[in-house]
Amino acid sequence: MTVQTWEPPRRPPAESRVDVDVDEAVEFLRLYYKENPDAGSAAHRIAWVRAEIQLTGTYHHTSEELTFGARVAWRNSARCIGRLYWRSMRVRDLRAVREPAEVAAQCFEHLRIAYNGGRIRPVITVFAPDAPGRPGPRIWNDQLIRYAGYRRPDGTALGDPRYVGFTESVMRRGWRGAGTAFDMLPLVVSADGTTHLTDLPFDAAAEVPLSHPDHDWFLGLGLRWHAVPAISSMRLSIGGIDYPAAPFNGWYMGTEIGARNLADADRYDVLPIVATKLGLDTSSDRTLWRDAAVIEVNRAVLHSFEQAGVTISDHHTESARFLKHVAKEEKAGRACPADWSWIVPPISGALTPVYHRYYDTDHLKPEFVADDDSVRTAVEGVPPRAAALGTPSYSPMWSYLRKGQLNGSQAS
Ligand code: ARG
Repeated sequence: MTVQTWEPPRRPPAESRVDVDVDEAVEFLRLYYKENPDAGSAAHRIAWVRAEIQLTGTYHHTSEELTFGARVAWRNSARCIGRLYWRSMRVRDLRAVREPAEVAAQCFEHLRIAYNGGRIRPVITVFAPDAPGRPGPRIWNDQLIRYAGYRRPDGTALGDPRYVGFTESVMRRGWRGAGTAFDMLPLVVSADGTTHLTDLPFDAAAEVPLSHPDHDWFLGLGLRWHAVPAISSMRLSIGGIDYPAAPFNGWYMGTEIGARNLADADRYDVLPIVATKLGLDTSSDRTLWRDAAVIEVNRAVLHSFEQAGVTISDHHTESARFLKHVAKEEKAGRACPADWSWIVPPISGALTPVYHRYYDTDHLKPEFVADDDSVRTAVEGVPPRAAALGTPSYSPMWSYLRKGQLNGSQAS
């Protein structure tokens, strides 16, 4: 199902009207030439880019610069434990694509390429950048695949409580889910004043049903998770150029699903039911029933992905890989920024080697940025600030068009 609406303009952020920062561009180009000695001398390129910015307010990365910049943005992601393979990320240069329906279609193609029959590959798809006076497309969702959350009258939620606001927003725009705990949200993309909602095609959104190696009842809980984590709300910032739509993925580490998405009290909150099924004494925190239950959920996640032939790693393996990455970076003469509180896994922290040390905390560019506006859009489903700039090219898909959506009543 596809729904297209026109979003009323919100005030564009001041920074979308200013020129690219020349110093940032030059700093990036110096880094590019330093790490790519075969590319030749930086001087000509820098002179060219300075002139381009002076004339047009912005400049164009070469494909090679874009690829390098995206990979280094991953290398610089202080919260990511999975950076050992940063050089291997596939970069899809789709800067010519900005129209919402086409952006959505290419996001689905991204998911197919990334899933790769279960042998997950790290991929990034880079859509049109912001330019002075003309922002690039925006993806509202914080991941390409996420589950809806439906508020119940008693205040609890069916599905993923994190996305209750987003779900209500897409429902106001005409979307309807099946009403299960794992309904995939539609992808919402805006550009040039047009917003498009598109359901994920079945073949682009692989999932794994969760079973336990020792407990048959676990499958009966009806839990599942999507195979590919693809972040779609972070801006890719390279040399002063912002790519607001640049979804990227790696593969899951089991704890992200088993110790957070399913276990957090404000997410799926499955530990009480799992503990009861396990016959644990839940009468006191001191029996450590949550601790015992969370391990079983994590065993189920790793077991199920492995059985389904879908790449996943455990926190012990991923921790060891990360320290190998830190050592490699050190050897290359580079700092490796890392945020201890994100790197240490959410269970069994001190059982992993990443716990027992500190890290560089300096902030490096190029980078992925989660700004407040995109977080708000992803959680609450409010239009991104810059999305409605430009000339609205409204073409009604009127079989789905709902009256009242043209007057801006839904904008909050
Ligand atoms: N923690 C997020 C989730 O559970 C995904 C973040 C990115 N993770 C990754 N392995 N690349 O969906």
